[in-house]
Amino acid sequence: MSLLDGCSTTKMISAAISGSDMIVPLTDFEIKKGNTAEFKRYLIAQNEKLQYPICVYRFDENNYEALWMKCTHQGTELQVFGDKLQCPAHGSEFNNHGKVENGPANAPLRTFLVTIADNQLKISLK
Ligand code: FES
Repeated sequence: MSLLDGCSTTKMISAAISGSDMIVPLTDFEIKKGNTAEFKRYLIAQNEKLQYPICVYRFDENNYEALWMKCTHQGTELQVFGDKLQCPAHGSEFNNHGKVENGPANAPLRTFLVTIADNQLKISLK
């Protein structure tokens, strides 16, 4: 991912929570370019009730991954760089499925069940 790519569209959204689900409209992934729709590869969804944001990766229209952006080493909030999440504290790295790619963290990120209905993602926070 280039820096320009990062600046051209906003990836931070504030998402509603309904019951025990966070709701992300699928249209939030769309980037309108004339008549063709392109899609963001990820969004960072926040809600004031959550201590950490959730990074939602889109692999295709039916496949998403929702990751808790809390480092499993000592709990620092992660930063997203394209398909990786990095920890600013001691440099741990995770891939877009939450697997550790570089320590010192040695446990995968928390993931959430994602279901798709009515043009929305429902991210189960249970
Ligand atoms: S808290 Fe993330 S690497 Fe230490």
